[in-house]
Amino acid sequence: MSDPYEPINAGFDSAEFRRVLGHLPTGVTVIASLHDGEPVGLAVGTFFSVSLEPPIVGFCAAKTSTSFPDVRASGAFCASVLASDQEAVSRVFASSGADKFRGLGWRTSPDSSSPMLNEALAWVDCSIGSVIDAGDHVIVLGDVLRLEVNRETTPLVFFRGGYRTLGD
Ligand SMILES: Cc1cc2nc3c(=O)[nH]c(=O)nc-3n(C[C@H](O)[C@H](O)[C@H](O)COP(=O)(O)O)c2cc1C
Repeated sequence: MSDPYEPINAGFDSAEFRRVLGHLPTGVTVIASLHDGEPVGLAVGTFFSVSLEPPIVGFCAAKTSTSFPDVRASGAFCASVLASDQEAVSRVFASSGADKFRGLGWRTSPDSSSPMLNEALAWVDCSIGSVIDAGDHVIVLGDVLRLEVNRETTPLVFFRGGYRTLGD
């Protein structure tokens, strides 16, 4: 059986793929875990709801991410959905190697003890259920332990390669 991810000559390159898919607006979510007692995390635009019964969510992590291996090793994560006034937070969590949590308000989640960002719009606390190989990324499925709305405000949105807020 041929390898399902054998690159096909699709007549478009990854820049075109990113340009076209960039027309799908997404929220921005910080995926964070405690690894050896230290907080680790990354920003993702691929956080999604999968199943209500049982409650499952997911996100996609690039195989090049230096934070995701620690998230995976911790076996759990808390997803902090970013609010419209958290663009600076997103920029920090989207940069590799930075001390991402320095000066940031967070506390550990009640169930998985993963970092929850104090100013997030909402939190979803999860244990990692499965990690599925998918080309240059993996799809991570999280079993939801607890979730909560933290602030009644507007979300941070990413659209056509830039940050927006609703109503922009
Ligand atoms: C708006 C936005 C959405 C992103 N979405 C994803 C994503 O879904 N999956 C991913 O692996 N990286 C995504 N990234 C890139 C990661 O945030 C970035 O590669 C990562 O934080 C690098 O740091 P690390 O090496 O510490 O993991 C996104 C970046 C931005 C700005």
